[in-house]
Amino acid sequence: MLSSLDEIRSRLSIEEVVGGYVALKKVGRNFKALCPFHNEKTPSFVVSTEKQLAYCFGCHRGGDIFKFVQEVEGVDFKEALQMLAEKAGVKLDTHASFRPSIQEDAKERLRRVMEEACQFFTRMFWETEPGKKVYEYMKARGMLDDTLKIFRVGYALDSFDALQTHLYDKGFQKEDLLASGLVRSQDTLKERVYDYFRGRLIFPIMDTQGRVIAFGARALKKDDHPKYLNSPDTPLYKKSATLYGFSHAKEFLKKEKSVVFVEGYMDVLASHQSGIKNVVASSGTALSREQLVLVKRFVSELLFCFDTDSAGKEATERAFEMAQGMDFILKVVSLPLGKDPGEFVQSGGDFNEQVLRAEPYLDFCFRTAFENFDATTPAGLRSIQDRLLPLLKRVLNSVERDRHVKRLAHLLSTDAKYVYESLEKTRISSYTPVDRGFASKTDVSVGEANGGIPLTLARFPKDSTYEYFFGLLYQYPQYFSTISALITADDFPSPYQDLYKKYQEHYNVHAHFDREVFEASISLDEAEKLKISALKVEMLNETLSTQEIEDEINKVALWIREKFFILTRKKMLNTMRRATEEGSDQSEHLFQEYCQFLQQRTQV
Ligand code: UTP
Ligand code: MN
Repeated sequence: MLSSLDEIRSRLSIEEVVGGYVALKKVGRNFKALCPFHNEKTPSFVVSTEKQLAYCFGCHRGGDIFKFVQEVEGVDFKEALQMLAEKAGVKLDTHASFRPSIQEDAKERLRRVMEEACQFFTRMFWETEPGKKVYEYMKARGMLDDTLKIFRVGYALDSFDALQTHLYDKGFQKEDLLASGLVRSQDTLKERVYDYFRGRLIFPIMDTQGRVIAFGARALKKDDHPKYLNSPDTPLYKKSATLYGFSHAKEFLKKEKSVVFVEGYMDVLASHQSGIKNVVASSGTALSREQLVLVKRFVSELLFCFDTDSAGKEATERAFEMAQGMDFILKVVSLPLGKDPGEFVQSGGDFNEQVLRAEPYLDFCFRTAFENFDATTPAGLRSIQDRLLPLLKRVLNSVERDRHVKRLAHLLSTDAKYVYESLEKTRISSYTPVDRGFASKTDVSVGEANGGIPLTLARFPKDSTYEYFFGLLYQYPQYFSTISALITADDFPSPYQDLYKKYQEHYNVHAHFDREVFEASISLDEAEKLKISALKVEMLNETLSTQEIEDEINKVALWIREKFFILTRKKMLNTMRRATEEGSDQSEHLFQEYCQFLQQRTQV
């Protein structure tokens, strides 16, 4: 009988699972995509059907379907299993015990702390005198009871120990409270701790499944700074990967196929209350790719309702660049008089109406550029170009770009070819971090060996040559017999030595390479590492002929042998030198050994 895990694996393919989050493009035998885990412009995220693996060679994250879902959803193994079981239509045996790891235990405990604290904060909001004042404040800002309850708005008493006392009563330890970020300590020994949120309005922040993982706490007095205090990142909460309001918005994202991005907690509440429920907030940080990936599988349209100040503008622009590579349509919701949705709704505005009038992002930029600057003056002309050309440069689709170029030419009463000329000269700075790894041509010389026969490895970075070697062997097992004539297990440093021995044993028992049997003889982790190396090999050597591959694998084997030779010789020479310096009687013996070693080497 198949285990649930195998059953799920057999029903769901990696490309099906990953394809739900990012747009995949077939390249050769694999798929490529922009990595969902980091910002990039050229895809280094590879999905292999054959290996059932999704892995990013830029940020080195990913793995099989379970690992992928864990990372992209920010959930633990058990939750990923549940999500995938549901997707695959596999019923999990509820009695089956998935022994939680120590880390999962700790996470579960942390969840209970957060939930308990949330209940405490809401009780203080609804049932205490100072809480009622805060409630009145929210009412005056137009918030209805229902909204406050749905979002579980709370109040933190103006006290240094009210929360911790309550949590101790509930059986939690100081370590739990410190781990949750709900209390802080000033002394390094953490003897005395105090409640972190005091006299503040509390917005609980939930994960994608609606469980409390953090809090945002708004000051209520003018002189209380900062305006918002936030929970620190914890094993449950990663600010840059969380969207405030997501769990409440989820079903509406599916329905509307679009999402409204606002800036703050209050804006989410106000929007929700006005009937726009497909709303989330990035909570004052620049929108990240991880956050966009979170909404990607539900929506195709992003509606931005950010401040019109420079930070808001920059955030929208950055999102525009990220959205380009992810097939989103981007629109802008503008509100009159620089109001945010919270203020707009409070003043009786119809947010619904404004959302319906959302403008495609570039239309919005064109309109505002021509409203703000006078195209008939040289300075205005410059400003308009400075504003629009970098944006056009970011449009990836050339048909779309051409349309906008022509439109700009028309509006400036010039010919499109001049706009193209200026576009050519426009430099844009990228928000994208530089890709790491995956260097395709690194020369590694071990020419000092054996009187200096130069050996060059054409393709792989030096420090991972061993991994490259095993990747080659996994991908092209037919060359093992050639290799085994060149090197032995002794040529490898310790962790690799065992792996090589496993290969030898495998070939001793089986006449040929049987991948499944071989994988069963090593750990899951090792197998995954091997597959990743093999995938890398596959990507790097795509264009090589069989002859070239054989040459490559021979070259690497020789490199490994020479490397071992150099290291051993160095070690022996050092020991000999030390023995001579110390006048040890071992000198002669060591010298004999050394000669033997050199002789052996030249015989291979
Ligand atoms: P805003 O200052 O616009 O606050 O910051 P707001 O949510 O509209 O609140 P009200 O209407 O003044 O009550 C937008 C978001 O930026 C983050 C918060 O997530 C806030 O909701 N922020 C703001 C912080 O994290 N820290 C701050 O000090 C200020
Ligand atoms: Mn506001």
